[in-house]
This record gives sequence, C-alpha cells and structure tokens, in this order.
Amino acid sequence: MTLQIKSLEEYNKEYTKSVENPEAFWAEQAETFTWKKKWDKVVNWDFREPNVNWFVGGKLNITENCLDRHLEERGDQAAIVWEPNDPNAPTKTYTYKELHAEVCKAANGLKSLGVVKGDRICFYMPMVPELAIGVLACARIGAIHSVVFAGFSAQALADRVNDATCKMVICSDYNNRGAKNIPVKKVVDDAMALGCPSIETVLVHKNTGGSVKWSEGLDKWWHDTIDHQSTECEAEEMDSEDMLFILYTSGSTGKPKGVVHTCGGYMVYTTFSFNNVFQYQAGDVYWCTADIGWITGHSYIVYGPLAAGATTVMFEGVPTYPDAGRFWQVCEKLKVNQFYTAPTAIRALMAKGDQFVEGYDLSSLKILGSVGEPINEEAWHWYDKKIGKGNCPIVDTWWQTETGGILITPLPNITDTKPCHASYPMPGVQPVLLDSDGNLVEGNDVEGLLAVKYPWPSMIRTTYGDHERCKNTYFSMFENMYFTGDGARRDKEGRYRIIGRVDDVINVSGHRMGTAEVENAINEHKNVVESAVVGYPHDIKGQGIYAYVIANQEVTDVDAFRKEIVAVVRKEIGPIAKPDMIQVVSGLPKTRSGKIMRRILRKVASSDVSNLGDTSTLLNPEVVQEIIDNALV
Ligand code: WTA
Repeated sequence: MTLQIKSLEEYNKEYTKSVENPEAFWAEQAETFTWKKKWDKVVNWDFREPNVNWFVGGKLNITENCLDRHLEERGDQAAIVWEPNDPNAPTKTYTYKELHAEVCKAANGLKSLGVVKGDRICFYMPMVPELAIGVLACARIGAIHSVVFAGFSAQALADRVNDATCKMVICSDYNNRGAKNIPVKKVVDDAMALGCPSIETVLVHKNTGGSVKWSEGLDKWWHDTIDHQSTECEAEEMDSEDMLFILYTSGSTGKPKGVVHTCGGYMVYTTFSFNNVFQYQAGDVYWCTADIGWITGHSYIVYGPLAAGATTVMFEGVPTYPDAGRFWQVCEKLKVNQFYTAPTAIRALMAKGDQFVEGYDLSSLKILGSVGEPINEEAWHWYDKKIGKGNCPIVDTWWQTETGGILITPLPNITDTKPCHASYPMPGVQPVLLDSDGNLVEGNDVEGLLAVKYPWPSMIRTTYGDHERCKNTYFSMFENMYFTGDGARRDKEGRYRIIGRVDDVINVSGHRMGTAEVENAINEHKNVVESAVVGYPHDIKGQGIYAYVIANQEVTDVDAFRKEIVAVVRKEIGPIAKPDMIQVVSGLPKTRSGKIMRRILRKVASSDVSNLGDTSTLLNPEVVQEIIDNALV
C-alpha cells in the first residue's frame, strides 16, 4: 500500500521530499502497485505543449490493482456496499471476489459485442452497482469510458456521445430517485433520434423493469449479454499513458470539454490521496455521496477506494428521501467511518432542522469530508457539531475534474482544520498564487490566482479531440503553470482558502457550469435575442443562476415566457442548469467593443449596487439604471 502519513512531522518531511525529489517520492508510491512492466522514467513533462507523462513506459491494468491484487488477502471483504433508494429494500454487498467476477463477466460481454481497446463507451446510468461494474469492465479491456451524469438532457447526451464518437451507450431502463421513477432509456432513445451515428449498440440494464421502447439490432439487454459470461477475463495490458477515461466538464467558453485521464498516474494519485485524506484503516466503511457521473465519484467511489482495498458505499438515492435524515440513517445502518459529501447537501439538510439528525447513532464516524464548492462557516460548524459531534476532523478538499484527485486539503488528525480553509497541499503538489500579470505572490496573508507549478500524477493530459483547447484553457495564461481558474488566499499560517472561480464558470449545488453554455441554451428560445447569465449567492445552492434576457418582441406574459425559457434550458442541458431568476431587459451593458460588462450584472444579481465602478465607458450606460430598477433580488 502507498505511504499513509501519520504525523505532522511526517507530513512536513514527506512534503519536502516530494518537492526536492519528486521522482523518488512518486516512484516509492508507484512501487506499491502491480505493474505488468515497470516504468523506465517517473516523469517527463513540458507545460508549454502541454505534454505530461508519468511512469513512462510502464504497463499495467488498473483493474488488476482494484480487484485481482486484493483477492488473496481480502477476497471475502466487502468491496462495494450498495444502498438502494428505497430504505426498506435490502442493501447489496459485493465482496472483492464477487466484484472481480462481475467485472470479468461484463468485460467479456462487452467484448462479445465487439468492444476493443481504445473504443469509447458512454454510460448514462443512475447509481446502480452495474455502473461501477461497467466502468471497471471497460478499464479491464482497455475501452475508454465516458460517464455522462444521468440528469443531463438528450441533447447534452448526444453532444457528448458525438464529441467522443462513442461506439456504445450503456444505460438503465429507469431510475429510482426519491419518490420518482425516471425513464432513463427514453432519454437515450431521444438522443439517438437526434443523431448519434457512431453508436452501434445501446446496452440496457433492467433496473426497475418498466416498459421500454425497443429498437431491434440497436438495443441489447445487459442480462442477455453478460449473465452467462465467464467470470474470468484477462486484463488488457495498458501503457501508463493510455487513456483510462474521458469526463466532460464545463469551462468559461463554448461546449463542455472532455477531460482526459490516463491509467498509471491516475491510479497512483487517487490511491495515495484516498489513503491519506481519509486515513482509511482495514475494516473501515467509507462513504462518498457523490454521483459517479462526476469526477468525485470516479476517483473517490470507484478507483481510489478500490485500489486501496477499501469498503466503499454506493448510494442510489437522494439526501431528502424519504426524509432529511436519510444520510444519517444510512451512516448508522452501515456503521460508516468516513463520510464525504458536498456543502450544498449539508446546507440543505441543515435548513430542514436538527430533528432529522437526532436519534441516529453516528458514533462510528471518524472523519468528515467536503468537496465541490466553498463550504461556508455556518455549514462547517453545523457539520462539525451535529454530525461529527466535535470529534471528527473535517477535510475540506479542493480539487477539480482536471486535477483527477484532491490537491489541497487538511489531513485528518495530522494538520489542523479551520472553517472555510482547504488548508495545505498534498505531498507532491506545488500550488502558487499569481497576480494577473503572472508574477508570483509570495509570503503569507496574501491573495491571488491559484496555479500549480509542477505536475502531479493524476493531472489532465488533454481535452479529447482538441489538444489546443487544453493548452489554451489551462497552460497559456501563465508560462509553465497549470492555471486552475480559481482565486485563493493564503492565510498567515500558509493555509489556502479557495475564494471561487475567477472565470465565467459558476458552481450551482456543486455542479460546475459555464455561463456561456447556459446562455447558448437560453438563446435557443425563438423570442430571445440575447442573454447574459451570472451566478448570485444562494443560501442552499451556493450559487444560483441569474439570467438577463432580451426579447425580440414585447413580453406580455412574463411568467409564461420564463417557463418557456426554463423548458428550453432543460431540453438543451438538463434541469441542473435551469435559471433561478430570469429578468427581461431592453439591453445589456456593453463596452464599446461590444463585450458584455458582466461585473455590473453580477453586482445587480447579488443586490450589491452601491459601487458599480465606472460605467461611463459603456456603449449604453442608460440600461444600467433600468436593470437595477427591475432587479429580481
Ligand atoms: C470548486 C469537483 C472551494 C472550485 C471536485 C473548482 C471548491 C471547481 C472545492 C471544480 C473546495 C472544488 N472549496 N471550492 N473544497 N472543491 N471547488 O471540476 O471552484 O466539478 O475549480 O470538481 O469546484 O469543480 P469540479
């Protein structure tokens, strides 16, 4: 197993070593894994290209590390514990042996449908065990998975399928989510109808068993394909730098981009970080409440925990069904030791009242985690007191889809914790703060743009099909730096506090969204001429979506117009992107070069209009007053 740091002294020592001699540090970690062939060189890198290679020349299969290597020592230990949406339905457990067998069967099933190494396979599935099994089955045979969160619309799904020219979509028939039964296959059918020419097969897992439309030749049942397969499947030999998966995420411009992660470095870093951030001990039950549709689920439900030989919980449901005590009921029932969730969930549950926590035995909890957005002080204290009973360190973990794993975080019982502070870099991670000209902001008690000056093993390698875009987005802003898009403070003691995005990316309930993406969706409405979207502070969601819209005719029924716009956004992206506020305006404040002055729009949406800055250079200063007068907040 990789190093597990146990004291502050050890953290300081290892951190220093990881900076002074990164190759030796990471070689030591990598040596703890099963390689089919050892690497020739630990790292080769050039951020200008960017070209980053870890464990160069090494050959491995990540599933041998997640499954096979555990069989002897912990074959009968629970690997995945699946908790269904319905609290009265039975929990399902897969031991390492059973999971190994299921993954091999699925891998053989995929092969029988002609899937080969390098093929892209899209998943559009709820949180059922078959999602984890399917993802691992792809990795087993060298197929590249692209998981699309099952809340995205048919259009968004089709866009992602086409961008990666996927050969297959794997989906469920329906999805149990709270009190709802959501038709999943229907969304895939709609996506196919929009045109997905590369798709040869839609593989359908029967989950709830409702009726589905069937296309002969295209659609195949999971059980018909997989149930009879052999429980052995040799693991494909992968190069360290072969693609493991693509995961789409939003940026400040254009369509979502496919972030590419590769096999070797991703495996080493997710395992190492899992081991240290959650201080996992044999026998512990670890639960991350994320969805596998996002990076957190990839790295810290599936790969990191399984490679570390942990017991990882997978939850099908939602935090508020059947009531706001569900998380705590599951913690009690499964005797969860490490619990990892998002601030938006904490805020939502906090708002429902303490009565939903009281009565549950949470004494098994040792460590609490937070991820995805800044956690505000009130939520932090509630989490600490009501859930952790003041006994569980909170790890406020900062990272991104692009970073693959947690980069800045407290280490529980090792470094201290401070509300709202992601605190210290992991060993091997070298963050810096920069001013807008790219100068280093040195010392403590300072603020700047957050960048990283040295590669770490699980960092983004490219954006699928468009390497230039990767370069322009992350590596062109500052020379020889990976730029995160976040602003941060470093406090007097050197802890990092993440302030939030400095680009046009917003974070709504922990879901990352590009304002341009939402604008493009809104503009699909036939009566919308132009729109501008900004984030504004929202008590539960962290940020809400505020849209300013110009119509091409007089709007007589504003409510109806708003509903239509919401419907268009749901159709184009999905319900997670629907605007919370829509203000119809006669114009948008623009500079003389035609750029929308978002700063003003952000201030209005945050009802902070006392100091709008200089508006005299605007092309149309008169619209500002109109916008303020009709603001919805
Ligand atoms: C934000 C999620 C503050 C940040 C793993 C980042 C955070 C974006 C934190 C990435 C945190 C993530 N404190 N902000 N602990 N964690 N963020 O790609 O703005 O969905 O750039 O990855 O979420 O979101 P993504």
